[in-house]
Order: sequence, then structure tokens, then C-alpha cells
Amino acid sequence: PSSIRPLVAGNWKMNGLAAHLSELQTMATGFEDASGGAAEALICVPATLIDRAVKSVAGSDFAIGAEDCHVEEKGAHTGDISAEMIADCGASYVIVGHSERRTNHGEDDATVAQKAKAGWRAGLTAIICVGETEAQRKAGETLDILERQIAGSVPAEANAENTVVAYEPVWAIGTGLTPTVEDVAEAHTHIRSRLVEALGEAGQSVRILYGGSVKPANAAELMAVQNVNGALIGGASLKADDFLGIAAVY
Ligand code: G3P
Repeated sequence: PSSIRPLVAGNWKMNGLAAHLSELQTMATGFEDASGGAAEALICVPATLIDRAVKSVAGSDFAIGAEDCHVEEKGAHTGDISAEMIADCGASYVIVGHSERRTNHGEDDATVAQKAKAGWRAGLTAIICVGETEAQRKAGETLDILERQIAGSVPAEANAENTVVAYEPVWAIGTGLTPTVEDVAEAHTHIRSRLVEALGEAGQSVRILYGGSVKPANAAELMAVQNVNGALIGGASLKADDFLGIAAVY
């Protein structure tokens, strides 16, 4: 429904050193003007920057998130970071199940669902990512894959406060390729109906973001698609000009 407040979200992935925080400050300062106050803003940063990113945007409505979390609260997991640690740094969101985690770290739907719950346990909103590969799209399996990923990675207690779903076709990530608006509409409508089926009324208001090669030049047409409630932006979230250019479509 159009009453959903859109979310313009960035994912810095494995990018960003202290010197990059000035870019974040520029985004935080300019976002309200750029979006006309019509959208919410979030940047998910590497764990090393969370604490400093939170301080950089203090005093604005700009939210900071993490890109992954461990399932458990604490313990013998060398190198891992818990949702509680992320919340302790002042972040309010965590991305779970990004395709780069699913592919590079073998995360399956069940793990992603556990990570979403770990985020909730710490008071974070989970951004649960789904999306088909190029081979799956070519084989005509896109809607089946999305259905399976939603069923397996979105826990039954999900609602609009604790969960955002991001549709990221794997072949559109970092490639400059995007699906047609018709394909985006079909995927998002399918995700919406699966969410409503699984969550009941709550599924109507969970935000569904589109991610994959979003930039200022294509954001207006993508964000106007039915059931697209914002964007999850990789490359174009590293520069304030690009990020604010996308925010300006609202
Ligand atoms: O999570 C966002 C991402 O996977 C999309 O990346 O660089 O295609 O905008 P990009």
C-alpha cells in the first residue's frame, strides 16, 4: 500500500575507511532536503565503522546498520560479531542473507532466518535479502525461488517494525543491469502476496526494497513500481551525490 514510508538504504559492503565518514556526514546533512522529508535513510557499513558512523550522523534521523551478524549472542566464535554488539554500537538495522553471504559463506535460508531472529533479539530491524541468479531467471524459476526464500528466511513473527525484505536479483548486483519495470513489478507483487500469506495483515506493510544497480538515472522508474518501497543501494551509496540523487526521486 502507498501509505508505506519508503526506505532509501545503502550497503557499503567491504568499503570505507575513516576518511569516508565525511561522505556519510554529507548524506546525513542533505537527506531531508533531497527527499523532501518523504523517505527514511539508512547506510549499512562494515563492522569496523559502525561506532564512528553512528557518531557521524548524530543529531540527524539517518540510521546506521550492519551488513551481517552471528546467530548467537556471545561465545567462542572467533572473528564473528553478534547482533548485541551491533546494537551496542548504536546501529538499528542489520542486513541478513545478502547474496554475497549466501554465496561466499554458504548461508542457507534456515541460517538467514536465525540471523533475522538474532537481530530482533538485540532490537535491530532485519533486512532479509532474497533474489534469483541469472541461471534461475533464464530457467523461468524466479518466482519459485523467491517463494522458497521467503518461506525459508522470513520468520513467522516478522512485521513492519522488525523486518524489511530486499529483492536483489543476483545478476543485477554490481553489473549495471536491471530487470525491466514489468519484471520488478512481478517479483515484488509475488513477494507481497507470499508475505501476506505467511504473516497475515502484517505482511501488507513490511517494506520491500529493490536492490541491484540502482543509480540516480534509473531510480525514478524503479521506485515508482508497485510494491517497491525503497532501494538497497550498493555502489551508488558510496558517494553522497549519487545517494542524494536517488533520494531526490521522493
Ligand atoms: O545490497 C546492495 C547491493 O547488492 C546492490 O549493489 O552495487 O548493484 O547497487 P549495487
